[in-house]
Amino acid sequence: MHIRDERPGNQQDCRAIIHIEYTAFKGHPMHAHGAEPTEHLIPGLLRASGDLILSLLAEVEGEPVGHVALSPAVVGKDRAGWYLLGPVGVLPPMQGRGIGSALIREALRRMRDAGALGVVLVGDPGYYARLGFGCVPGLHYPGVPDQYVLAVRFGDRLPQGDIIAHAGFAEPA
Ligand SMILES: CC(C)(COP(=O)(O)OP(=O)(O)OC[C@H]1O[C@@H](n2cnc3c(N)ncnc32)[C@H](O)[C@@H]1OP(=O)(O)O)[C@@H](O)C(=O)NCCC(=O)NCCS
Repeated sequence: MHIRDERPGNQQDCRAIIHIEYTAFKGHPMHAHGAEPTEHLIPGLLRASGDLILSLLAEVEGEPVGHVALSPAVVGKDRAGWYLLGPVGVLPPMQGRGIGSALIREALRRMRDAGALGVVLVGDPGYYARLGFGCVPGLHYPGVPDQYVLAVRFGDRLPQGDIIAHAGFAEPA
C-alpha cells in the first residue's frame, strides 16, 4: 500500500476520489433507507474554494482504494490552526486492512509537521479512539451529539467552543 498526495489538476484523481467516497458511504448506516450519500461531493467543493488543504490517496497495486481530505475549520475563537478531517473512505472490499488508519495517521503526521494546533472531526469514537482522537469537554459541533465530536491536539491549546466547518459539509450541492 502506498499513500500519496492528490495530483493538482489531475482529473483522474478527482474521479477516483468521487468513486471511493461514494462507494464507501453508499449503504452506510448514516444514510438510512437507501438515501444517496453526499460525502463524495465534499472534496470537490473544498477544492473549488481552495480549502482542500490535504487530500491523500491510498493505492494498492497502483489503484486508488482509499482517500482522506482535510480542510480548515474555525474552532471557537480560533480562526486558524485547526483542521477538520473528512470525508475519509476506503473501498468496501479493501476495508479492514489498515488502509483507513494509515491514511489518517499520515494526515495527522503532515498536519503536525505543518504546525497545526490539531485536527477535529465528527465520527465514531469506537474507530477514531485508536488513532488518538477523543472527546473534549467544551468542544461542540452544532447539531451533532458531543460523543461524536472528536479532536487530536498537537500542542497545549485545547479546542474549545463550536466547530464551524466549510460550508460544503452542510449542503453538498
Ligand atoms: C471508516 C473507514 C475509513 C476505515 O477504513 P478501514 O481501512 O476499513 O479501517 P482500518 O482497516 O484501518 O481499521 C479497521 C478497524 O476499524 C474498525 N472499524 C471500522 N469502522 C468502525 C466504526 N465505525 N466503529 C468502530 N470500529 C470500526 C474495524 O472493525 C476494524 O477493527 P479491527 O482492526 O479490530 O479488526 C472505512 O471502513 C470506510 O470507508 N467506511 C465507510 C465510510 C465511513 O464510515 N467513513 C468514516 C465516517 S466517520
